[in-house]
Amino acid sequence: MERRKFLTRTGALAAVLGTGSLTLANKAKADRIIKELEVGTFEEGDYQPVLAGEVKAATIICIGAGNRGNAYSRYAQSHPEALNIIGVAEPIQERRTGYATKYNIPQEACLNTWEDVFKKPKWADAVLISTPDKLHYAPAMKAISMGYHVMLEKPISTSLQECEDIAKAAKKAGVMVAVCHVLRYGPYFKKLKEIMASGVMGDVVSIDHFEPVGYWHMAHSYVRGNWRKESESSFMLLAKSCHDLDIMRWLVGKPCQEVASFGSLMHFKASNAPAGSTKRCTDGCAVESTCPYSAMRLYLKPERKGWPVTVITEDLSQEGRMKALKEGPYGQCVYHCDNDVVDHQVVQMKFEGGATGSFTMSAFSPEQGMGMRKTRVMGTRGYLEGDMKEFVITDFLTNKQTSYGSSELGGDAGSGHGGGDMGLIGSFADAVRANNPKLLTSTIDVSVESHRMAFMAEKARLSKSVISL
Ligand SMILES: NC(=O)c1ccc[n+]([C@@H]2O[C@H](COP(=O)([O-])OP(=O)(O)OC[C@H]3O[C@@H](n4cnc5c(N)ncnc54)[C@H](O)[C@@H]3O)[C@@H](O)[C@H]2O)c1
Repeated sequence: MERRKFLTRTGALAAVLGTGSLTLANKAKADRIIKELEVGTFEEGDYQPVLAGEVKAATIICIGAGNRGNAYSRYAQSHPEALNIIGVAEPIQERRTGYATKYNIPQEACLNTWEDVFKKPKWADAVLISTPDKLHYAPAMKAISMGYHVMLEKPISTSLQECEDIAKAAKKAGVMVAVCHVLRYGPYFKKLKEIMASGVMGDVVSIDHFEPVGYWHMAHSYVRGNWRKESESSFMLLAKSCHDLDIMRWLVGKPCQEVASFGSLMHFKASNAPAGSTKRCTDGCAVESTCPYSAMRLYLKPERKGWPVTVITEDLSQEGRMKALKEGPYGQCVYHCDNDVVDHQVVQMKFEGGATGSFTMSAFSPEQGMGMRKTRVMGTRGYLEGDMKEFVITDFLTNKQTSYGSSELGGDAGSGHGGGDMGLIGSFADAVRANNPKLLTSTIDVSVESHRMAFMAEKARLSKSVISL
């Protein structure tokens, strides 16, 4: 276990034990954390269901048991009283059977594709749609039409019209669609939103937000991997940064009215290939040992056992990994792929009332702190600066600085997606059990609004103009 993770976990344990009253729920949480510390592995921050155990668990079918489907599903293991996974649709057989074994799903509920789920009358409360970007619209529309509540991975869809169609259909059918804007559900951004909404910062005048994608996450997902080509997934701002535009809109609390944007694919292209480089890192490339993007450097480290290595092969032995690099897409030289999405982009925004926003996404950021967004907010009464582990507010009247770090944020702020993955699936289960969309902050309407910001910003970049929303 990394030192930082160890510290956040021990912080969470101290928070539980320090409550004074060791209720059954607290004891269960403490026992779980102690076990994680003992075995040295844990995946996520915890989320406690808000409803009492008497309300029956929400039943759900997972459509697409890949990386994200599995990430959310873990909640059913830690909180079976809140979420019960009763079916899976996944075309890759090993994934489907592995998932079915883990969640005790009977053979008849293990299906090949999303279409199979909807061949029989409604048989669960909800579906989790975690299929590739281009496969969100059709299953979402079908699920809504049959009365399922939907937890839908972002992007909602790869066309704005389809995003709007889904919102319209959900409203008509009276079902909840929760979009997986996970950042909204982690303790860090939840607290940041609460503080800003309290008015202590005065009026927001500017917000400045940076998404450090990480040099090797860029190489893995957006140069060699599934999100490298717009035609096969979506443009970078929608694929990677719709979370960020969404969080900016949420924090400011006002609609965005105008956008401008610049950016390009500057580095990962053939014209930048160093002399001596080969089509694959495994082909005897003369500069492999000095290339930060070397596939061997990224995927052969034995201590790397989870994502992203699990994406390239099921066989995690050195031989298995090497075979994947020699034969599959992840061994290709980053300068010789067929990628076309941008590797850096900025978006400038004007919000209702005159506040301005500035967003930067860049591939060129270090492994340490990868994905840890940095945010600065300038208000009329205070200034805030945060890095997803901690934020500090300076009050102009007193010059006093107040920090919110892991102890104030519940000890889990630094875990996967800032604890947002479990927060989202837990909130969704609660919302379904209570039939109450107010338990969600990423409902389809607000998510379509922030997706629109991404679509319009991309239009502004391509048309070299300022676009009104
Ligand atoms: N919210 C976030 O922070 C976040 C992070 C990463 C990815 N995502 C999004 O989540 C989605 C899934 O990404 P992932 O990384 O899990 O990808 P993945 O490839 O690991 O998983 C997708 C799964 O869907 C399955 N699938 C393909 N066609 C199918 C069909 N017809 N019916 C049923 N299943 C089918 C695939 O076999 C695969 O197992 C993408 O849209 C991605 O953009 C969201």
